[in-house]
Amino acid sequence: MSKNPVTRRQFLSYTLTGVGGFMAAGMILPMLRFAIDPVLTAEASGDFKMTDKKIADITAEPVRVDFKYEQVDAWHTSETTQMAWVYKNEAGDIVALSPICKHLGCTVNWNGSEKHPDQFFCPCHMGLYTKDGNNVPGTPPRGPLDAYPTKEKDGFLMLGTPEENPFVRKK
Ligand code: FES
Repeated sequence: MSKNPVTRRQFLSYTLTGVGGFMAAGMILPMLRFAIDPVLTAEASGDFKMTDKKIADITAEPVRVDFKYEQVDAWHTSETTQMAWVYKNEAGDIVALSPICKHLGCTVNWNGSEKHPDQFFCPCHMGLYTKDGNNVPGTPPRGPLDAYPTKEKDGFLMLGTPEENPFVRKK
């Protein structure tokens, strides 16, 4: 028999403390994660995604650029595909427009309607946008297409998170 035997009362006390601590951690950790998530999200939104579009190949004609990346959502990782309409404007800026229509979210296409050449066309409700992404008055969209911030890395185009279209505001 040992000199300091653990009494039944001590054993119960240690066990309950351990179990209680484990359960408290289970409740507190998700709350902490929820509290700091905006910080993590803000950091992630600054990320630029690599595309396979060479900067040197970008012309004045908008072309579709698809790009993939891994999206981490808590413990789940999935591959996400996005696309942009990319061209070089008269000022030499690279313009990368979001294809998501500002009316109800359909996908717009460059030169998608024979009746409206050199415009972005949304087939869902006949929405139209000019080349810089500005919505054409009299059609359903109420605002310009968003634009991706752009960066160059090793001669290739990188795209950030779509934001308010700066090319329309410059006018
Ligand atoms: S969703 Fe594009 S015009 Fe309605």
